[in-house]
Amino acid sequence: MAELLNGKEIAAEIRTDIRKQLEEIQAVGKPHLAVILVGNDGGSESYVKGKIKACEEVGFKSTLQRYDHSVTEQELLDKIDEFNNDESLHGFIVQLPLPKHIDDSKILNAVNPKKDVDGFHPSNIGAMVLNQPCFLPATPYGIAEMIKRTQIDTQGKKVAVLGRSNIVGRPISVILSSPPFNSTVTVLHSRSTNITEEIKKADIVVSAIGKPDYITGEMIKEGAIVIDVGTTRVPDQTKQSGFRIAGDVRFAEVEPRASFITPVPGGVGPMTITMLMLNTLNAYLRAEV
Ligand code: GUN
Repeated sequence: MAELLNGKEIAAEIRTDIRKQLEEIQAVGKPHLAVILVGNDGGSESYVKGKIKACEEVGFKSTLQRYDHSVTEQELLDKIDEFNNDESLHGFIVQLPLPKHIDDSKILNAVNPKKDVDGFHPSNIGAMVLNQPCFLPATPYGIAEMIKRTQIDTQGKKVAVLGRSNIVGRPISVILSSPPFNSTVTVLHSRSTNITEEIKKADIVVSAIGKPDYITGEMIKEGAIVIDVGTTRVPDQTKQSGFRIAGDVRFAEVEPRASFITPVPGGVGPMTITMLMLNTLNAYLRAEV
């Protein structure tokens, strides 16, 4: 029987800490986060709703800047330039994915690294690789914080990361192989061979591939720690929304073998949004205090 890594609970603790910290410094004005949202992708809509709600909950100001799917790259770059120079704004993010006619890297590279609370700018990613102070991307930051607060021993442990995305797989592999975590990390991806064997060797498995039910019970070593980052929408007529959110892991099969496991929902998801709040607080503290 695995213990649950309850992201919802840990996230609530961190949000309380954020509110307390704001009270303690008797802040003049509030931390202010802006979100640029393009189009109406269902997943992005619900993530952004969660981010705006979290801002209200911790006492931040938020601004949502929406654009139609047909927005031009230049229009977005102009807005980013405006946000970069707006002193009342401490941090902002551009919700991904962007439409195909927009070059993601051109957009992300235009964000002032000091306001890049998503940690996607090359200078923040470079600082992360060098283990220097930076904004860490929220999802891997959330995973790292959950591991830390649960006092999971990562020293020299074998970690299998599934997926090499810029948002999750790549950064979590860097973070967990660096001090203070000091794990031995294997990154598995679409061109990897012997994937099952590699997962079976792992003390800690982080799955971020967005393939529901990919990780079976048999793949998991007895006592391993399993972190499921999958959030795929699967049609489900028993739900009012018509879908449910599915992780990459077959929870019922894996849970009895694991020592710790994240549920979906209620695991990594709430941590992600909370770490964005923490990055925004830090952007504010650096700018204002
Ligand atoms: N799309 C999926 N995850 C994220 C995230 O953490 N930040 C942004 N901006 N877009 C995303």
